[in-house]
Amino acid sequence: MQASIESQRLSDTEKRKYSRDEVAQHTHDGDVWVIIEHHVYNLSQFLQEHPGGAKILLGVAGQDATKKFRKYHRMGILSKYNERLLVGRLDQSPPRSGSSLRSSIFAVFRRLET
Ligand code: HEM
Repeated sequence: MQASIESQRLSDTEKRKYSRDEVAQHTHDGDVWVIIEHHVYNLSQFLQEHPGGAKILLGVAGQDATKKFRKYHRMGILSKYNERLLVGRLDQSPPRSGSSLRSSIFAVFRRLET
């Protein structure tokens, strides 16, 4: 029963969306958010217990830390911490559609030809 309440809470959290600009406001000791794999984590309470140290987390505060995270951890470890640290997902503007990308490439070629 407890597990289902927890997974419900987690899926509600998953639905919360933040922009990169919003995440970028959280860059101080005691208020540190980072983006990892399009998810937003509040690491404020985790800084002091992070096995890799607080300093390295402060260095990526407010930023997308996906690359550095991948360098030092197995992705699997996140599921252990999601319950505590995950605050939401990254609200991304929709990727440019193939057709608009194609038309801008053609526009460049047209300009080169003239
Ligand atoms: C949700 C965020 C994070 C969690 C839950 C987390 C958790 C952990 C854990 C459990 C370890 C111990 C080793 C392991 O079990 O893999 C660790 C080590 C480490 N972490 Fe993180 N970490 C996070 C974010 C980051 C970020 C963003 C960076 C870098 C910018 C980082 C850098 C490191 C380093 C350098 C180590 C030490 C690796 C070693 O000794 O070989 N971590 N972290």
